[in-house]
Amino acid sequence: MIRKGAIVVLDCGGQYAHLIGNRVRRLGAFSEVRLAETPAEELQGAAGIILSGGPQSVYGEGSPQVDPAVFALGVPVLGICYGHQLIAHALGGTVKPGKAKEYGHADIQVMEPESPLFRGLPTRFGVWMSHGDEVKELPGGFIRTAQSATCATAAMADEARKFFGVQFHLEVTHTQHGMEMLGRFVALCKPAPWSIESYAKEIGEEIRKDAKDKKVFMLVSGGVDSTVAFTLLNEVLGKGRVQGLLVDTGLMRKGEVEGIREAFAPLGITNLRIEDASEEFFAALKDVYDPEEKRKRIGETFLKVQKRVSEEMGLFPPSPRPPSSRGGRRGAASGDSGLSSASGAASQEGWLLGQGTIYPDTIETGGTKHADHIKTHHNRVQAVRQMIDAGLVIEPLKELYKDEVRKLGEELGLPHELVWRHPFPGPGLGVRILCAEEEAPVSPRAPSPFDRLRAPRARRGARGDTGAGAWFDGAHHDTLPSGLPHLVLPVKSVGVQGDGRTYRHAVSLFSNSDETYDVPPAFRTMATTIPNTVPVFNRVVFCTSHPHPPALVFSPGAITRERADLLREADAVVNEELKRTGLYETVWQFPVVLLPFGTKPGGQSIVLRPVESQEAMTASAAALPPALVKRMTERILGIPGIDMVFLDLTSKPPGTIEWE
Ligand code: XMP
Repeated sequence: MIRKGAIVVLDCGGQYAHLIGNRVRRLGAFSEVRLAETPAEELQGAAGIILSGGPQSVYGEGSPQVDPAVFALGVPVLGICYGHQLIAHALGGTVKPGKAKEYGHADIQVMEPESPLFRGLPTRFGVWMSHGDEVKELPGGFIRTAQSATCATAAMADEARKFFGVQFHLEVTHTQHGMEMLGRFVALCKPAPWSIESYAKEIGEEIRKDAKDKKVFMLVSGGVDSTVAFTLLNEVLGKGRVQGLLVDTGLMRKGEVEGIREAFAPLGITNLRIEDASEEFFAALKDVYDPEEKRKRIGETFLKVQKRVSEEMGLFPPSPRPPSSRGGRRGAASGDSGLSSASGAASQEGWLLGQGTIYPDTIETGGTKHADHIKTHHNRVQAVRQMIDAGLVIEPLKELYKDEVRKLGEELGLPHELVWRHPFPGPGLGVRILCAEEEAPVSPRAPSPFDRLRAPRARRGARGDTGAGAWFDGAHHDTLPSGLPHLVLPVKSVGVQGDGRTYRHAVSLFSNSDETYDVPPAFRTMATTIPNTVPVFNRVVFCTSHPHPPALVFSPGAITRERADLLREADAVVNEELKRTGLYETVWQFPVVLLPFGTKPGGQSIVLRPVESQEAMTASAAALPPALVKRMTERILGIPGIDMVFLDLTSKPPGTIEWE
């Protein structure tokens, strides 16, 4: 049953259901996320219902549907994206494929400014769209309340029944006034109150309840999440019941291991063992090119090292009877994890495995029934799933978003610099070293990235008449000339389009002028329009090292110590420059990515990936001052072995933050 007065988010399979739930909580209401098909009678007591986005078509076989009785509960209903279409479909309207698939930024025009969601807002503002289908005919009782250039029903409302639908994602920070619209809906629901402070207390109680009389063994990566989780476990259970292990994977940042040791010392946290296992990781990653396989190997090597070290420490004596697997879930890794005896022993010896898993880590792995598989998180490889099923894992932060984790970290007295470090993925530089055995060829039939692009209507002469700007100054160009200097990169990277995962080419644009460090504004627009209109691409980068496309030399590359060292150097340069200019805390995250090609045999390339985000579910490429880009590029080109530097201009969606 639902807690009385809660707002229920019915999860239609997108990545956003929990994000909506989180936003609702920030608005001071309790929220619960449930499967779309939850029978209406189980939703009795809810103050309101939100239907989330999702990757499918409402007419698609097996697509999420809601119990029609949900609409008879007598409470306000808000449908977002797929949920908006589902309302139309369920109540007698029609949904059809739209004119164009739309991912990313779009402007909406409010047609009914007095409609409750829009009252007091500007009549035109930017939103985040992610859809293929659209509502064509409205159900009875509804009126159209907003439209966009490519979507006639960007929003609709039946004010009498308090039913609302929005085609855009109002829960993401890239939608302007999103929280205001959501806040208005929440207020209409008259929900039960909720606050993060009270929730922090609940987490403490939950840790005590879950841990019972057991001790917790935890892998600490040095990232914000595991650091906060480890500190919290120390605080709640006491040092005597917690043991940390920092595994040096060889995929850490320059100086990271020493930095962590120094940060914990003043907190009196001494129950952390540091183990150099880099050789083991590089051996496990030898000749591995597939990104999912990389994650799996890294996750499993972590667990093997954990098992070995914990046995050495006498925490988990080897067990002769490993627990049986209840695996078989989508995306689960297979094979020997090396964990079975440790988990078997854990139940005997009273040890649990602690993890710093946070909400997005669980959502993007198909953690809910309908969520499309996007990436397998290393905290969810099969061995860990087995342990979770056996009740041997404690994840105190699994309901929280990054900003909430940081707030909690500060409350625990962790140093500001540590808590506000950029999020760093558990597999470390492993997801930033792009691996490929051979070039990824582009089909000769693939369209040019510019084939379906229309030139932005820039003012004539706005950027002078030379260089890249010249292509866009002529308003007479309806279609961009296919001669715009560009290169399709010979590698693919992960992206997310329409709530599903893609593995596609990146295209690089070139300045064609001396102003190599100053990204032409039209290029940023193209970073949205190219992946939207030419789906063989999911990323657009700008080359900051070369004004014109050079001949590329591809070199097969997996993860090796040499490549990790190369990336470590480039990453250190980026972080140093970012801190020096005082911009470290204005960007959310700044992955530095190594690509297996350059201009010379064996040469490599670096991608700078600064992003702005609130919680990593969506992101936009951060604009850096050209002088900073110049300095980073020049210093990185000074590292022997690096031939080219690119700046990633892609939002999420259609890209992801990391490249693999
Ligand atoms: P993406 O690349 O999916 O990343 O946009 C979203 C956030 O998750 C982090 N990330 C990971 N973190 N293990 C982690 O611990 C992983 O395998 C992993 N992959 C991505 C990424 O850095 C970003 O903050």
